[in-house]
Amino acid sequence: MARFPEGFLWGGATAANQCEGGWKADGKGDSTSDHLTGGTVDTPRRYTHDIEEGTYYPSHEAIDMYGHYKEDIDLFAEMGFKCYRFSINWTRIFPNGDDAEPNRAGIEYYRGILQHMKDKGIEPVVTISHYEMPFHLCDAYGGWANREVIDFYVKYATTLFTEYKGLVKYWLTFNEINCGLMKFGDYMSLGILPKEDGPTMFMDPNETVEDRTKRFCGLHHQFLASAKAVQAAHEIDPENKVGCMIAGNMPYAYTCNPDDQLAAQRAFYQGNYYCGDVQVRGEYAPFAPRIWREAGVELDWRDGDRETLAAGTVDFYTFSYYMSSCVSTDPEAAKAAGNIFSGVKNPYLEASDWGWQIDPKGLRYYLNDVYNRYRVPLMIVENGLGAVDERAEDGKFHDSYRIDYLRKHIEAMAGAIEDGVDLIGYTPWGCIDLVSASTGEMKKRYGFIYVDKDNDGNGDLHRERKDSFDWYKKVIATNGEDLD
Ligand code: BG6
Repeated sequence: MARFPEGFLWGGATAANQCEGGWKADGKGDSTSDHLTGGTVDTPRRYTHDIEEGTYYPSHEAIDMYGHYKEDIDLFAEMGFKCYRFSINWTRIFPNGDDAEPNRAGIEYYRGILQHMKDKGIEPVVTISHYEMPFHLCDAYGGWANREVIDFYVKYATTLFTEYKGLVKYWLTFNEINCGLMKFGDYMSLGILPKEDGPTMFMDPNETVEDRTKRFCGLHHQFLASAKAVQAAHEIDPENKVGCMIAGNMPYAYTCNPDDQLAAQRAFYQGNYYCGDVQVRGEYAPFAPRIWREAGVELDWRDGDRETLAAGTVDFYTFSYYMSSCVSTDPEAAKAAGNIFSGVKNPYLEASDWGWQIDPKGLRYYLNDVYNRYRVPLMIVENGLGAVDERAEDGKFHDSYRIDYLRKHIEAMAGAIEDGVDLIGYTPWGCIDLVSASTGEMKKRYGFIYVDKDNDGNGDLHRERKDSFDWYKKVIATNGEDLD
């Protein structure tokens, strides 16, 4: 029996802010991502309110997919991609976010991409907002903490549904929406400007109830915006399928101590179901009020909010999955690094060079858990290994470690399908090398396709196939049967 269903959506994923570049091209406005400097595993990226002359901002050029999209899509087609997940840069469509009319050049740019994909037989999976929004909406309105931003987003999303009717069927409203629960997401996800220039990722020891209120209300506003967008998408074209996108959080209890078990359950629920329940079931989970109480926040409920959430539930659940973590109530347990979810080191797992604990079986566990809770189709829209790729003596990139990582995760997917999970697609992250979101580096590469560019912006941007390119081509051609 075939392990993957007929029509399974094999593909790859990218995000505009990490690959497009062209930051001022054809009327594009300033995005939040354009204000983040480069960094490394040891040096955090910095936010700067004003663009500093002489400072390197990786999104400004990125891998210039803006200028290379045909060549890149041709390479995806050569691998046999059935689908390609990419995001639209909000600032190409509405440069300031509150503009009366959309920017036609931006609309036509994405039409060109979609048309080229159609010509190549690749199904688009479009993220409407991926860690990027008009900087003006943050500076002048306060980002998602302000309820007015809901309408700007809905206008933007509605413009996309109308313009690209018939060209796009699968939409995702917000990338990793659950990052809005964390300090990490205040700027990246919610567009709440830091009080001063500097790193944005870390917990602020002086965080106030007001800061937390902005965060929880900002996320509530995103839920409302997402629900309204789902309704608009269905009205404009009943063929549209809209998904949520959650950063897959897979915490294990470090020991069988019931305290650890409870802490891990709480981390799983909070990390995944806080957002999943609202977006899939149309209401907050029973544990949500406890979270608000503990954070000391009052959510800004308005008349009609509950009905809006209930009316805008998604058609499918998508998520990213890179690693798992361990939860311990013992303060001495050693910490493991991660871009979003740090935790205790798991002695059974190996970690990537960036400290992410590699765990294919955790993916199967996660798929089973989420499917049994929601019973809607699932899609893995990010997964992969960020690694340093060195050119070998024969001039090629032999990335067997990446193949090994992906192979084990695909095996885990096949296992989950056998367990009864309705998994409809798989789009490994950074199918072409791009800028890392957490560190702003090029050195942390995920791609099947190598891009000649380094952390400082040097390189001629030419593209090359790695060994994983041919391997993935074979995986797709055999619908996941041949993983050798
Ligand atoms: C996810 C994001 O968190 O992880 C992507 O949706 C990101 O934007 C990816 O690039 C990998 O993280 P990083 O930090 O290695 O780029």
